[in-house]
Amino acid sequence: MSVHILDAMAREGFEEVVALHDRASGLRGFLGVHDTVRGPAFGGIRRWHYRDEREALLDVLRLARAMTRKAALLDLPAGGGKVVLIERDGVDWPAAYRHLGRHLERMGGRFQAGPDVATGPDELREVAAVTRHVTDPGEAGPGQLAEATAAGVFRGMAATLRALDGDEDFGARTVVVQGLGAVGMGVARRLAERGARVLGADLAVERVEAAARELGVVPVDAGGALATRCDVFAPCALGGLLHDLTVQRLRCRAVVGAANNVLARPLVGDRLHERGILYAPDFVVNAGALVRGVLFHVDGRREPVDAIGARIEAVLESVLSRAVAEGAPPARVAAALADDRIDAWRAAART
Ligand code: NAI
Repeated sequence: MSVHILDAMAREGFEEVVALHDRASGLRGFLGVHDTVRGPAFGGIRRWHYRDEREALLDVLRLARAMTRKAALLDLPAGGGKVVLIERDGVDWPAAYRHLGRHLERMGGRFQAGPDVATGPDELREVAAVTRHVTDPGEAGPGQLAEATAAGVFRGMAATLRALDGDEDFGARTVVVQGLGAVGMGVARRLAERGARVLGADLAVERVEAAARELGVVPVDAGGALATRCDVFAPCALGGLLHDLTVQRLRCRAVVGAANNVLARPLVGDRLHERGILYAPDFVVNAGALVRGVLFHVDGRREPVDAIGARIEAVLESVLSRAVAEGAPPARVAAALADDRIDAWRAAART
């Protein structure tokens, strides 16, 4: 099936989509700018084995739009964008990242790029060698991005538990953390410090062992984590995890985690709602790194991680209280709130 790119852009209100190609390095990919009405577009650089161009194009559109919503809900002076690079044999990746960097430099700051899947410190350093419009992974950059995300997830859990029971009472809670990487470990540490019973899973055995040793995390099998009985299930591994089948296996009261696009499609949020499981929208709770990055690049300050957690907690609290009052799925409430804001800013910019 083909993608009618201009129709898709018009439907979603995109400003710009660029096809990236460099014969010398073998680079192929897309850069999407969804919205810059409030400030530059922020978005990560994702490198992935896409089946074909269509899949890559759809991913850049979906992810860039989600970034605008994230920035809008957190009331940041920024919009949303994304870069997707197609993983394939024979690409000279250092040269490809520098090519992308030169493109970002020519965009003059309309797009500020950051890390994402398969684009870590080494790749960012290549981009940063030729442009300022990327997150510097070293001393000169914002730093503590995963910690900021972990703080947001943890404080998001507090807001979610209060919405369920009136208090957070971590000492009486069991939380399953799926994925004990940079963010998952930060979440597990905060939970352990507050006396919660933390169960943890990771495909990498050494990460589970480290979490057990350092934090007293109780290991659970990676295949069974999702179906483990608990108060909160915290997906901190990969997105797309919850779909029509997996939603039926959950045995938790709430889902609060860092993974992007936890719901394979919006309808899955409705299924969670029907099952009485409170879902804290990923694009609210995992916004910590974006807050830290935007305030660093736009305002020139390193916002303290705890302040970022508190900001996310407050936004989530208002989303959840509205969702409870309306009896509506929180993901739909959050998306509608964000879209209303963006529409209002766009209307104001036209006058
Ligand atoms: P990471 O790569 O440090 O950790 C991910 C961990 O998940 C790894 O230890 C990996 O072995 C594990 N894993 C993968 N598949 C698994 C499975 N099926 N079951 C159990 N464990 C599995 O990544 P990081 O930075 O901690 O990010 C976690 C998630 O949060 C990702 O989806 C990322 O896109 C998202 N996110 C991260 C942000 C950040 O600031 N790092 C910001 C916003 C979203």
